[in-house]
Amino acid sequence: MKTQILKRKDLDKAAELIKKGELVAFPTETVYGLGADATNEKSVKQVYVAKGRPSDNPLIVHIADVKTVEKYAADLNDDARKLMAKFWPGSLTMIFKLKPGVLSKSVTGGLDTAAFRFPNNQMTLDLIKKAGVPIVGPSANTSGKPSPTKAEHVYHDLNGKIAAILDDGPTKVGVESTVLDMSVDTPSILRPGAVSKDDIEAVIHKPVLDELHHVGAKEIPKAPGMKYKHYAPNAQVYIVDPGDNWNDVIDWIKNYHQPAGVMAFDSVISSHNWPDNAKVVSLGVDAKSASHQLFAELRDFDNQPEFKVIFAQGVTPVGIGEAYMNRVNKSAGQMHFKQL
Ligand code: TXA
Ligand code: MG
Repeated sequence: MKTQILKRKDLDKAAELIKKGELVAFPTETVYGLGADATNEKSVKQVYVAKGRPSDNPLIVHIADVKTVEKYAADLNDDARKLMAKFWPGSLTMIFKLKPGVLSKSVTGGLDTAAFRFPNNQMTLDLIKKAGVPIVGPSANTSGKPSPTKAEHVYHDLNGKIAAILDDGPTKVGVESTVLDMSVDTPSILRPGAVSKDDIEAVIHKPVLDELHHVGAKEIPKAPGMKYKHYAPNAQVYIVDPGDNWNDVIDWIKNYHQPAGVMAFDSVISSHNWPDNAKVVSLGVDAKSASHQLFAELRDFDNQPEFKVIFAQGVTPVGIGEAYMNRVNKSAGQMHFKQL
């Protein structure tokens, strides 16, 4: 199969492919997703095959109107409605209890809940409307690799395995959506993203649990996807925490004598002298720009196998900084410069 690259003018074609049961990768404001008709069990199963994804890891259902959620979800309370009004379209995925039998086991991984997301990307909202069905969409990467923030990342991982990629340029946010479990008494964040705990609490005026994604190795995470090794580049990543001395990192690299990657903020880059064996790339100026750049830079280093070590700047985990640190921690397997 040859994977076609489609643009906005090809939307009808992309919708036809979805209706025919083919897989089409689609843009969102967070990362690219791997799309299939959520009501076609055979297509949904193909999504797991193309990604190499374990079958107990449920998929997010992407919708373009609240009515479709009402069709599937058992009950939407006032808090859910307030959050939809405030954050949809946008980077908040919500998990609801399902009416019995409305979505196949391949979508839900056998759970009695499902995750719903109204993405903030007009091309994809038009695709969902034209296809006339909700579209499942895990991130469109090979399982375990950094999520794709450009169409070319999707092509790299899935060329030949899917019918098409709908290309809308680089994504804006760069890390995946916040996953909020609304099927439990106290709403719980299962995966941090651009919509923070504070943002959510400011809308529903009650506490939100935020510890479930900080899982120890032996615990079973609530979001099945959080238990797998994720975002892992080929090189070993080490986190340089706020308060660490970058001159110590530079000394380490000088003694190492082999190519070493550095991902840091502009202020750090411009205020230090970097040895010749360091390749220094910018994460911009703050946690927001760092989130936008992280996966693309990790993938760039993957294309340069001579880099076996990468130092990534850490931030204080507040706001989107929490989502950024969650992803950096996973790509580093929790390794910090201090441990070297
Ligand atoms: O930004 C995003 O959310 C992207 C774009 C494409 O929309 N999608 C995405 O999907 O990141 P995926 O499949 O890579 O991650 C979804 C996460 C997984 O950790 C999965 O286990 C969890 O959400 N999840 C999905 N349904 C769930 C459910 N019913 N209960 C608990 N966790 C669920
Ligand atoms: Mg993913």
